Amino acid sequence: MAHFTQLQLLTELEPVAGKELDRHLSAAKEWMPHEYVPWTEGSNFDGPLGGVPWSPEQSKVSTTARTALVVNLLTEDNLPSYHREIYQSFSADGAWGTWVGRWTAEEGRHATAIRDYLLTTRAVDPVALERERMVHMTQGFETSYQPDMLHTVAYVSFQELATRISHRNTGRYTEDPFCDQLLARIAVDENLHMVFYRNLLNAALEIAPDQTVQAIWDVVEGFQMPGSTIEGFTRRSLAIALAGIYDLRIHHDEVLSPVLKYWKLFELEGLSAGAEQARLKLAAFMADLDLKATRFEQKRAAQQARLAERLG
Ligand SMILES: [Fe+2]
Ligand SMILES: [Fe+2]
Repeated sequence: MAHFTQLQLLTELEPVAGKELDRHLSAAKEWMPHEYVPWTEGSNFDGPLGGVPWSPEQSKVSTTARTALVVNLLTEDNLPSYHREIYQSFSADGAWGTWVGRWTAEEGRHATAIRDYLLTTRAVDPVALERERMVHMTQGFETSYQPDMLHTVAYVSFQELATRISHRNTGRYTEDPFCDQLLARIAVDENLHMVFYRNLLNAALEIAPDQTVQAIWDVVEGFQMPGSTIEGFTRRSLAIALAGIYDLRIHHDEVLSPVLKYWKLFELEGLSAGAEQARLKLAAFMADLDLKATRFEQKRAAQQARLAERLG
């Protein structure tokens, strides 16, 4: 089968990007981030305004909820880095350029809304948050794969879904109905983003199946959450996994599997030997991930049982 250059793929897929952009624009409902923030709960901080400094007892959410909220916000904060990646691997022309702009504008709303919410309700330490934002954004985001269009679209198909679930579950976990409401609204956006990328990659599978299957495997194998370069991410993601907000089971069952199923990846016929090889590795990877997810669930259940015993 012919090997497509990036430019050929971008040209071939531009009408699909256009169709998906139109679908997105008619499905996306305008929403106002300021309407989700309980402004009357806010008060001045110390510094130039001479208000009250933050202290942990002001926060109504648990330590683990704070961890998840901070990771989610820092991830959204790093938007300029993702914008660079997407802009460079797509094109500024036609539907590609319009999508990149629109997607960036929608994502920009997420960090704004979450930050307004967290600072107004004093849910997290604003000084630590700002310092972390500086470090995280300075460092930027690095992909584990070749940042061309196919790899980028494969990555964001999974990543948008992962982010959607992470926001949704974090909202529930806070037990704060306003926070839950805001994160649920953001999750709706992330879902529409996932649909755009997933459908685009579906079209790529028809045009260039071998290259696309290879890109999917590369991305699944090296998948890291976009916030994985946040300081202490390993420790924090363990807390997030123990809380059931995002863990291997969710990654396997609710992120990778449904998208692979949508693409009918394991039903594709006529792949090249190389792509077939990549698909076999992907199948083995999924089986192994399933095992690891089960082992983690068992460990977590045992830990929780021990804890309950100690407390009881
Ligand atoms: Fe977002
Ligand atoms: Fe998104």
